[in-house]
Amino acid sequence: MQSENIYNIEKYGKPVLNSLKFREALEQCHHHSSTVGMHSLNVTFVALGIGYLLDKFHIRTNTRALVIGCLCHDLGILDRERFPSNSSMCRLHPIESADLSVFFSDPEDRERVYDICRHHMFPLMATPPKTTEGWVITVADKVSAVGERMLPPVRRMWERRNLRVIPTETTYNTAA
Ligand SMILES: [Fe+2]
Ligand SMILES: [Fe+2]
Repeated sequence: MQSENIYNIEKYGKPVLNSLKFREALEQCHHHSSTVGMHSLNVTFVALGIGYLLDKFHIRTNTRALVIGCLCHDLGILDRERFPSNSSMCRLHPIESADLSVFFSDPEDRERVYDICRHHMFPLMATPPKTTEGWVITVADKVSAVGERMLPPVRRMWERRNLRVIPTETTYNTAA
């Protein structure tokens, strides 16, 4: 399953992975022990794993929307010093991530990707997601945060795996 997930992330995640925004994300600290970029990749892998399990129960998810949404879900947190407080950051970053996701998603996935980013903070924020993919990320985000903060061996294992999908310097797209 891991190689299939890597394949899907490389295939569908290219517009985000090759962007300058994502390069910035790989440099900004997140959850004390990770970066926004590494965390976003962790969330993507966990979400694809959940999608795989749901498929066994005939609940289908849109893999392309899931990959783009998960990779974008915390991009709105970049330059976090501009937020006056933690609570404003919690409230505002999903909106900024959702707005950014529009540039990276296919027109037919746009609403779904927007929902993934906009409501990923549920239940910390009151409004729940409307799509299956939106619900998947609410779980994947929390699972990843726990792994990153509390389980250093898991975090290191995830980091080694993530390096397989992070593009090299030369392939970054400077337009985004
Ligand atoms: Fe977030
Ligand atoms: Fe997150």
